[in-house]
Amino acid sequence: MSLIPIRVYGEPVLRKVSSPIENINGSLVKFLKDMNETMLAARGLGLAANQIGKTVRAFAIDMNQFDVLDEPRIIINPEVMETGGEIVTGEEGCLSFPGLYQMIERPTKITIKSVNLDGKEYYFDAQGLVARVILHEIDHLDGVLFIDKLSSAQRNLIKSKLKRIKDGERV
Ligand code: CO
Repeated sequence: MSLIPIRVYGEPVLRKVSSPIENINGSLVKFLKDMNETMLAARGLGLAANQIGKTVRAFAIDMNQFDVLDEPRIIINPEVMETGGEIVTGEEGCLSFPGLYQMIERPTKITIKSVNLDGKEYYFDAQGLVARVILHEIDHLDGVLFIDKLSSAQRNLIKSKLKRIKDGERV
């Protein structure tokens, strides 16, 4: 397995809408496993495929971090079927924004339809931080970044940090 460089804010690939995966072949499985390794090495909670340069609808999530399941997971072609609970504000970071943490509003409960590495469709529910991470990653697949969820006043406050991230710094 190999680690793949993570793209940072300012790179056009982060704004692309990713395409559904139709054929889970050997080279794609290798890429998805590399994505997972890259996430673990970077100590991220999640990592979307376009953050390492490939515009396909998949992301990795490290469930280990949440004490929910005992292994990281690769989620393919995720769709949000339902959201519920409350809308709460919580802190988020992103491997494409080194050092930046912001308070973002998300629903507390979601139901997701997805495909596993064997191509099988399945549904699962997630809550709290897991739901937050999954929604953050699905946004990546649509070219949406967490800073897009901020008010213009909030975005103004981090303008200089965003510029520094674009210049390759950690903020
Ligand atoms: Co992110």
